[in-house]
Amino acid sequence: MCGIVAYVGNRQATPLLLEGLKRLEYRGYDSAGLAVMTPDGLKIARSVGRVSVLETMVENMDAADGTLGLAHTRWATHGAPTEYNAHPHTGMTRSGHRVAVVHNGTIENYATLKKYLTEKGQVFDSETDTEVLAKLICELYQGDLEKAVQAALREVNGTYGIAAICENEPHTLVCARKGAPLIIGVADKSYVVASDAAAIISHTSQVISLDDHQVAKLCAGPEDRLGDGGPWSVQFKTTTIDNIPVTQEVTRLDFELEQIELSGFKHFMHKEIFEQPDALRNCLRGRLDHRDCRVVLGGLSRYSRELVRAKRFILTAQGTAYHAGLIGEYLLEDLAKIPARCEYASEFRYRNPIIEPDTVAIAISQSGETADPLAALREARDRGALAIGAVNAVGSTIARETDAGVYLHVGPEIGVASTKAFLGQVTVLTLITLYIGKRRFLSDEVVRTYLRELERLPNYAERVLEQFDSIGKATERCVDRDNWLFLGRGYNYPTALEGALKLKEISYIHAEGMPAAEMKHGPIALIDKGMPVVFVAPQGSQYDKVMINIEEIRARGGRVLAVATEGDQAISNYADEVFYIPSVPEPLQPILSVIPLQILAYHAALLRGHDVDKPRNLAKSVTVE
Ligand code: G6P
Repeated sequence: MCGIVAYVGNRQATPLLLEGLKRLEYRGYDSAGLAVMTPDGLKIARSVGRVSVLETMVENMDAADGTLGLAHTRWATHGAPTEYNAHPHTGMTRSGHRVAVVHNGTIENYATLKKYLTEKGQVFDSETDTEVLAKLICELYQGDLEKAVQAALREVNGTYGIAAICENEPHTLVCARKGAPLIIGVADKSYVVASDAAAIISHTSQVISLDDHQVAKLCAGPEDRLGDGGPWSVQFKTTTIDNIPVTQEVTRLDFELEQIELSGFKHFMHKEIFEQPDALRNCLRGRLDHRDCRVVLGGLSRYSRELVRAKRFILTAQGTAYHAGLIGEYLLEDLAKIPARCEYASEFRYRNPIIEPDTVAIAISQSGETADPLAALREARDRGALAIGAVNAVGSTIARETDAGVYLHVGPEIGVASTKAFLGQVTVLTLITLYIGKRRFLSDEVVRTYLRELERLPNYAERVLEQFDSIGKATERCVDRDNWLFLGRGYNYPTALEGALKLKEISYIHAEGMPAAEMKHGPIALIDKGMPVVFVAPQGSQYDKVMINIEEIRARGGRVLAVATEGDQAISNYADEVFYIPSVPEPLQPILSVIPLQILAYHAALLRGHDVDKPRNLAKSVTVE
């Protein structure tokens, strides 16, 4: 979802901004634009579609030279994805200088502000809330961009990550955030600002993460202008929107450039599917203490008493993370014997939830920036819950707002369709369950078994990946069908939901996931000859019941694809295609059984000719409601 890149320094801004935008493409967008401060004032280019279109436009523009600029990929919220709605948006100060602004988030009171500004004589070219912000900054500008941005943001309700530049201050970049991420990369003689570390890492790993309501003023220019010695000097200052100075620490990004590059793979999703064994290793590293038969989670140690005492868990997330949360619900009730509910964060936050004493809320999120889980977590915490995060992106907003948490440590996930993060989320929820369960009811013997089995998962995942090509062949045999069902019971029901989501997201095939038993209450009417029905059916307590469901589908001519336990030859008598996973205890099955479903979706998308990493209409990180 919307991306920001901005630069002030001693290099040409345009190529650097375009490179940054390309690194943000994975987040999803429908239009793009950039503004560069040239000796003749602001030069602006905006286009609908891919960054490559903008690139061609910029190549044909004369003299877009300048060392200060900002750029944006837009995912339409206010107004259609058109050139005039694309960012940057501009305004004119009373002194006759243009201001350019890029913005992520939503300005909730934009209609009121627009009315006020229209009465003041401002004329709007777009339907966006961002243009309102740009014009407001201009209206309040009195020769100091930082002050004008602060003043404008004091008038704004909503969320924002913004960057702004003004022709009157050709070496100054001002940025600010509230509820939308913004990171400042501190490089030699320059600053790179971005909404996502992926656009910064090729320049520097030294970063400053702004907090909500904070504004940064970044200057880089020739010494005679800044007057503090050396041929080129940089200055940095952070304040609140009320102009109170704040000090921000410089931290190190926790990943390397090659982790966000394709490294020979065809797509990021392809790469990330194959990274899963290592992702599991990294997620488990240092957390399984076989000797003392316990799980070590340093991030929870301060709150271990509250966790053990907890009477109820609420897990809250969206998308794939929600499916991981559903598995967490099963794990916590089944193994730790604590009532647990997983809820869509978007529903939870608005339904006036009752939070009883001793409730723990866990927000699950790959990005740590998704708007709804963040808001749900705040809601739960305000009502007295202990707030825990199960997050991948280190230093992200959810990670910073929780009382305690456990990082997934699966490395950056670029593919829009989440794969390795799901494995990390389920693994972390398993670890949290064992961490608490061990202190409650679980015997050493049971915990020891789980520790041993968890340790084996990375190698088991490697075995599942060996079927990559054969799953592709099986997919080819039914990819022409437009409606699919995914069924499972118990721990395998959320996996069925996730399998259906994967297929929908990237192949645009209509797919539904549901508990296998629910199929008889309506969806069975859909079954006709050749309709693909995927059963997540590894051996376990409900295996026999699932077999009956398989029979029911076969009797109606459906085409059965099954995920089964290695050694289960019998299932091949019932299913048309079988994908195998090694035998593991039921609670750990989703970590393996989802892998064939990811591979299936990947092949289906390729066979249908879709761009797996840039699925239509989707965003990697949904930072607006
Ligand atoms: C978007 C992505 C999904 C992801 C969901 C939650 O919809 O396309 O892949 O599962 O957001 O994202 P999060 O970063 O909170 O896990």
